[in-house]
Amino acid sequence: MTASPLPLGIDIGGSGIKGAPVDLEAGSFAADRIRIETPGSSTPKAVVKIVKEIAAEFDDRCGGGPIGVTVPAVTTGGVVRTAANIDKDWVGTDAGALLGEALGRQVTVLNDADAAGVGEMQYGSGRGVRGTVLVATLGTGIGSALFVDGTLVPNTELGHLEIDGHDAEKRASNGAREADDLSWEKWAKRLQRYFRHVEDLLWPDLIVIGGGVSKKADRYLPLLDLRTPIVPATLRNDAGIIGAAWLAAQRADHQGA
Ligand code: BGC
Repeated sequence: MTASPLPLGIDIGGSGIKGAPVDLEAGSFAADRIRIETPGSSTPKAVVKIVKEIAAEFDDRCGGGPIGVTVPAVTTGGVVRTAANIDKDWVGTDAGALLGEALGRQVTVLNDADAAGVGEMQYGSGRGVRGTVLVATLGTGIGSALFVDGTLVPNTELGHLEIDGHDAEKRASNGAREADDLSWEKWAKRLQRYFRHVEDLLWPDLIVIGGGVSKKADRYLPLLDLRTPIVPATLRNDAGIIGAAWLAAQRADHQGA
């Protein structure tokens, strides 16, 4: 008996494009992740070429199976609508169609933070949590995924709230921490300002912090004084790939593929 193909998750980020086959039972990677630098000019053409390379690497495990791809942008029905941290040529691009054509099968495309949120709700820190849960990814930008009783409210874009006259992610993302060479304490002050504002607007029951910097959460989360419980993502930076693969597999199941 041939094993059915595993779903593949691919995460297009501001600095790297990463992919891995996902074991949906375990909620983890079924093979080592591949990461390729995001090209300086991150046009759809350049990025699709890399996505194709990554998919080809996993063809033995994932060939013909569902693929979920995340983009760091608002995405509705597979069409990319914004481009804060990626080439502006993406705006208006039907990424679902473009990637579907390049990979020769249906591709599920969604916002990167939404995918990470789905991963955390399914397998990580948000598992079984009812009420309002906000998953915030701290990377090149700030991504947000909002869940109400486990249901995703897509494309919330809370990284672009205007706070003290600034686009919030320009001050409080991990990218801003690195660019401004901030100590953990100084960065925590900016995070405090950001998350206090967010909790005053949404009154969430839980905030989950994702992105690569979630593995260093002990350096800055204890410095925050919020009324909302705030915890690091269990799946850390893998959440997006796992969430995208999970969603793609769900979609394939619903279509009886
Ligand atoms: C984008 C979001 C994205 C986030 C994290 C923001 O700049 O507008 O769509 O989720 O960065 O990559």
